Amino acid sequence: MTGAPSGEELKACCAAAYSSDVVALLLGDSYHPGGTALTRRLADGLGLTPGARVLDVASGRGTTALLLADAYRCDVDGLDYAPANTALAQGAARATGLADRARFATGDAEHLPYPDGVFDAVVCECALCTFPDKARAASEFARVLKPGGRLGITDVTADADRLPPELTGLGARIACVADARPLQQYAGILTAAGLHTRRTERHDNAMLRMIDQIEARLNLLRMTAPAGLTATGIDLAAAPAVLRAARTAVMDGVLGYGLLVAVRDEPCGPTPGPPPVTRPGEGSTGP
Ligand SMILES: C[S@@+](CC[C@H](N)C(=O)[O-])C[C@H]1O[C@@H](n2cnc3c(N)ncnc32)[C@H](O)[C@@H]1O
Repeated sequence: MTGAPSGEELKACCAAAYSSDVVALLLGDSYHPGGTALTRRLADGLGLTPGARVLDVASGRGTTALLLADAYRCDVDGLDYAPANTALAQGAARATGLADRARFATGDAEHLPYPDGVFDAVVCECALCTFPDKARAASEFARVLKPGGRLGITDVTADADRLPPELTGLGARIACVADARPLQQYAGILTAAGLHTRRTERHDNAMLRMIDQIEARLNLLRMTAPAGLTATGIDLAAAPAVLRAARTAVMDGVLGYGLLVAVRDEPCGPTPGPPPVTRPGEGSTGP
């Protein structure tokens, strides 16, 4: 790859990274800070009911989609750019007896392969930050939602102008950091697509816990399987500085993790202004 990568190259790099086994080892089942506990909080914020049709965009290995199909009894479609993730998610659906309520396909968030207005809810966890054309993805979310349908996002937040150099390269972009935006900027992108934010929350501690987990697992792998780790292309020499920079950025309020619930316009519906950002326990605007 020479020069700045194209949007398609970025998506392919991201999909390749998130379908590698070493990423699965470092991140665990959920590929996002906060894990399934935060996914449940998001699902509760969306008011999901049994039988609701839900689309999980960038579904990874299927953890979120399978949770929604199992615990919330939703009818879920998962879509991911990486064919290997789609295959693993399909296998997990079959293995857990959920294949009748959760199906998976390979495709692009910026060109969703679904008709207009079919989903009661769309969820997207830890992935909008990586999409090269966020406005295009947001308008696709709005297009496939029914009028009044809800969008739930959890994602990395970042103040791009204050990110240190360790967190700005291609690797940092694939690691969900370099092109992440502040919560209010995500809300602005969604508003332009007809999706009105009703609730935002900050979960920066979940980001710190994920950094700790990655560091601990990297150290363990370094001791137990150094050759395997080197073969993955992870720059082991740079990893401590990158993790230190990420931790400092969270403590300084430059990097974090957020949750956002938005509603698609009803025809002629009201257009509320942006809500305040809250932290859990401080109260939040209800969906
Ligand atoms: C950090 S992982 C999050 C996976 C999952 N949502 C979760 O939270 O466990 C990001 C995922 O986005 C997928 N992805 C990246 N670009 C995509 C795109 N343009 N369309 C669909 N999926 C994409 C990757 O393949 C990867 O599975």
